Amino acid sequence: MLLDILLINCKELLTMDHETKMVRGEQMNSLPHVKDGAIGWKDGVIAFVGTSTEAKSIKSKKIIDCNGKLVSPGLVDPHTHLVFGGSREHEIALKQQGTPYLEILKQGGGIHSTVKATREASFEQLYAKAQFHLKRLISYGITTIEAKSGYGLERETELKQLQVVKELAKNMDMTIASTFLGAHAIPMQYKENPEVFLGNMAELFQEIKDQELAEFVDIFCEEGVFSLDQSKAYLSLAKEAGFSVKIHADEIVTLGGTELAIQIGAASADHLIAASDLAVDMFGSSNTVAVLLPGTTFYLNKEFYAKARSIIDKGGSVALATDFNPGSSPTENIQFIMNLAMLKLKMTCEEIWNAVTINAAKAIKKENTSGRLKVGRRADVVIWNAPNYQYIPYHYGINHVHTVFLNGQEVAKGGAYIDE
Ligand code: NIG
Ligand code: FE
Repeated sequence: MLLDILLINCKELLTMDHETKMVRGEQMNSLPHVKDGAIGWKDGVIAFVGTSTEAKSIKSKKIIDCNGKLVSPGLVDPHTHLVFGGSREHEIALKQQGTPYLEILKQGGGIHSTVKATREASFEQLYAKAQFHLKRLISYGITTIEAKSGYGLERETELKQLQVVKELAKNMDMTIASTFLGAHAIPMQYKENPEVFLGNMAELFQEIKDQELAEFVDIFCEEGVFSLDQSKAYLSLAKEAGFSVKIHADEIVTLGGTELAIQIGAASADHLIAASDLAVDMFGSSNTVAVLLPGTTFYLNKEFYAKARSIIDKGGSVALATDFNPGSSPTENIQFIMNLAMLKLKMTCEEIWNAVTINAAKAIKKENTSGRLKVGRRADVVIWNAPNYQYIPYHYGINHVHTVFLNGQEVAKGGAYIDE
């Protein structure tokens, strides 16, 4: 067979081709890879994975000599708020004065400010802005993402956000898991009756399902936002409607959203900075992935980070994400998140790579398409300007991407998206 592209002399080719669909506990320290590897594909589908010596007999239209570089699967970002209007730099002064995130929200800023801008934006404007950010995510080596709605808080704008995600996935030829986060904040006029608001959001489930606009339903379970009981009732309706569920859990206050996520078999529990010791233990015997977002702790200037070490040491499965959003984590740089995971979460480099590939894919139920390099899979591949995998969490704040291939096509080079 004549391949389209063959990469040779990949000093370390991380295949991440574990025997299991995700890794937990001690397994997170194993890193399936090929030394002096080679990988090739045809029509966007991986056709060869092996050593450079074995690749000598393989014929390809184009051969790229990686010259001792690191090569990995495209990274998976399992938690983003990709689609929104406006931005929130006007809240910097409030933030610097020490006004807490939940206080800004209470005063009608924060998420509410982004809701206003998102409602005002047209489909085309939202699409263009989301595409701009998506290209930047790709330029950092990400080839699969999850994207949430949640800046509409009413039917029309929530559906508009989800439609933007659907169009982007199609037009960018990208694997995107879509999440309905209508329960992201309580609109001011429902302040006294959040249940009525949640009822309105739940009424959209069927329409979203019928139009195939989302696979997941998520809720912000937090003090001053949605309570544990409200979250439980809402997510059980979501499950009845056929959705998989996720929770923004114990991000700021310990409410027990993490325990709830595990009890109801959520695909992931996200944030967990204030998760209880009991919740940490529960991950050890659960398939719910702990999605940790150290960029948010960093940007909210919090003292404590999620207890990644304890979750892994207790046998749990951890993934990492950017939480890209205009308020608590305005960054597309997953490599900086990998650095924070090394520095602040005390994760090993092997754990970090598993957390941004196969575990991240599992957290968004894309484990059969994303996060590993294997014959028959989509050629979502990254060549890194790095000699080894430890180098990415080590050298911080910059973009190490040499080339990103999305479905076999070169889409980013030298850390920049290639715009026609
Ligand atoms: O994951 N906590 C709730 N949602 C987002 C922030 C959204 C925003 O501030 O716009 C988060 O931190
Ligand atoms: Fe979030």
